[in-house]
Amino acid sequence: MKTKINWALKSLIILFALCCLGCQNKASNPITEKDIHIIPKPKDLKLGSGHFVFTEKTKLYVPNNDHLGAADVLLNRFKTAANWDLEVVKDLPSTNFIQFKNNGNLDHEAYTLNVNNTHVTIEGNSFSGFSYGIQTLRQLLPSEIESQQPIESVVWEVPQVMITDSPRFKWRGLMLDVSRHFFQKEYIMETIDRLAYHKMNTLHLHLVDDQGWRIEIKKYPKLTDIGAYRVDQEDKPWNARPPQKEEVNNLYGGYFTQEDIKDIVAYAERRGVNVVPEIEMPAHVTSAIASYPEFSCLEEPVTVPSGGLWPITDIYCAGKESTFEFLENVLTEVMALFPSKYIHVGGDEATKTNWKTCKHCQKRMQLEGLKNVEELQSYFIKRMERFISSKGRILIGWDEILEGGLAPGATVMSWRGVKGGLEASSEGHDVVMTPGTHCYFDHYQGPMDTEPKAWGGFTPVSKVYEFDPVVDSMTQAQAEHVLGGQANLWAEYIPTTAHSEYMIFPRLAALSETLWSPKTNRSWTEFSSRLVPLFKRYEYQGINYARSAYAITAETEVNDSTHVITVALKTEFPDTDIRYALNDDLLETSGTSYTMPIEIDSTTTIKASRYDHNAPVGQVFNKTFNYHKAVGKPVTYNTLYSNSYQGKGSNNMVNIVRGTKNFHDGQWQAWIGNNMDLVIDLESSTELSEVTIGTMENQGPSIYFPTQIEVLLSTDGKSFSSVGKIDRPFKVNPTIELKDFTIRFNKQQATHVQVKAVSLKKTPSGGGAWLFVDEIVVN
Ligand code: ACM
Ligand code: ZN
Repeated sequence: MKTKINWALKSLIILFALCCLGCQNKASNPITEKDIHIIPKPKDLKLGSGHFVFTEKTKLYVPNNDHLGAADVLLNRFKTAANWDLEVVKDLPSTNFIQFKNNGNLDHEAYTLNVNNTHVTIEGNSFSGFSYGIQTLRQLLPSEIESQQPIESVVWEVPQVMITDSPRFKWRGLMLDVSRHFFQKEYIMETIDRLAYHKMNTLHLHLVDDQGWRIEIKKYPKLTDIGAYRVDQEDKPWNARPPQKEEVNNLYGGYFTQEDIKDIVAYAERRGVNVVPEIEMPAHVTSAIASYPEFSCLEEPVTVPSGGLWPITDIYCAGKESTFEFLENVLTEVMALFPSKYIHVGGDEATKTNWKTCKHCQKRMQLEGLKNVEELQSYFIKRMERFISSKGRILIGWDEILEGGLAPGATVMSWRGVKGGLEASSEGHDVVMTPGTHCYFDHYQGPMDTEPKAWGGFTPVSKVYEFDPVVDSMTQAQAEHVLGGQANLWAEYIPTTAHSEYMIFPRLAALSETLWSPKTNRSWTEFSSRLVPLFKRYEYQGINYARSAYAITAETEVNDSTHVITVALKTEFPDTDIRYALNDDLLETSGTSYTMPIEIDSTTTIKASRYDHNAPVGQVFNKTFNYHKAVGKPVTYNTLYSNSYQGKGSNNMVNIVRGTKNFHDGQWQAWIGNNMDLVIDLESSTELSEVTIGTMENQGPSIYFPTQIEVLLSTDGKSFSSVGKIDRPFKVNPTIELKDFTIRFNKQQATHVQVKAVSLKKTPSGGGAWLFVDEIVVN
């Protein structure tokens, strides 16, 4: 009796104390939905009033031992951030507890989370459901919960909420390329934790590529003895690393032992993440051919390349039975290590020239009645698909596996846009959407001149947020075949874990929401307001996330009649406090709040910075806009630019905005296999003495400087005479280079300027050559 009274009294006191805490907080700081920053946004959230407050005595009631791993995340956080050892119990406590409750009506990954004054209930129907419930609870706690060391005097409270949540898509992935640069298993595990934090459930490991074989295969030890190491040329640009000389020691590389893989897979299982292995074939396998040349057509010795290799011609021979025996043996070991239902076999970017002459490949084509090498690749993948499905697994491959006919049970990963996904889903195949436009995290995420070197492209976080794996033109039946989406982080330009983090975060947060949350009400403005508090959590977690979304960029508009240029400054965050100064004025003393576009009618330097609490933060924007005599004047094209690179349209060449080394930045006009020839109408007789043509060379994606440039002038718009010509013969150039070609001449009056730029037309390997021009500066 005595104990019962004591117990009741104690409970009352605790309840009273908790109420006071809750009320106090409510009075001073009422919680609204704006204060809840969960990413990805839950499907349904109702806010109550008051809080649940964790104490050192808070218990976790987890009746099912299979779900203990889900609770671990919270236990570990409280251990680290509060130095508390919260207890897991098997009897339902009476107050101040977190309860896991099984609910057989919920979908596999769904959960509900109910917070009241005395306890938190998480309902789920699987490990994943409970795990996501815990991750949501973690995001409801103060951001200090992410601290790597104990923090005192934090009230560990969560607002009273009722959340019902489940994902929109079942495949929510990230691919890490561990071939181009190798990353240790500790980083892989950290990444798994971060995937789980964002409710992502798939880690795709790209274990094989030309530049390194990264998984131990017991039956073929040379794959890692030889294939996992290359000459260390990390000091040179990726595309300027010459092939290995024989006497050099191969020092750069590494691989996962089978024990490492078991550790990774077990770790991922405890976080609800599936690890999908990718074993590339038939191309992107120079590392394997260097180890076992007998599985190629030519059987010639090759070395593991240290950098860019294109086109990829050293591929597996599709004629020899021994190739298939080798690959089946490799996959047998791989499938024993990875429980994943999906096994990725690559299949992309095979240049099949050797197959056209190889006697084994030719014999195979004859025997199987295959009309071309595309059908031979299809035979290859179909054969692997039969093997993989005979083991109860599903083959997945890049969208090239559609060429020559798709294997019956295959799932397609659509990377060359969404076309592959549309085609495969229309044929009744499942697809995972990873279009380069939105999902390639090796692309730039901010202005190229302020970002570390990246592959190319431009995929800022706001663009990732626009991603939708279901394409508008899909039928309902096609949409049902969309398993989800995935980000791919190719690692050619990513040598360190810090750099890898930089490329992943915060873009992964945007992707997680596009794959988890309902499409309705998705808003970049609202999402970006939740991104800022997430940054604080990233900081506590020690993640080297990119601040690129804060970078100031300029957008210009030309007024064709007044020839005034307006320059609009912005960051990716709406309502950023930007201040600017012009020309020699100092930002510190003369900074003006930016409220509307700046007008320019002469050469002007704009300096600008983002301000936070009245202090400048981040990189200063500093750009000089060179005004010239052709600004805003009409341009007539004798040869029209490509639809793919239209720049800013008809006044692109005279809008004073220069392109960057990012050829996707929207400032470039381009011609493929054709010359540029245009005429600028100066609208009145104007004295001229020079004309400059801004160009770019980036030979990787077939962009070449013009081989000749000529400027012609006219005083009537009809007859033109040449005032100068520059010849520039083709040279191999491993770098990305911007170049202004200037033609100077004696001062003279003209009404029209004609500019001709001669294209290389064909690349040295025979494809179409691009010619890129961003501005014609007339003075
Ligand atoms: C790819 O990006 N080659 C799949
Ligand atoms: Zn062959």
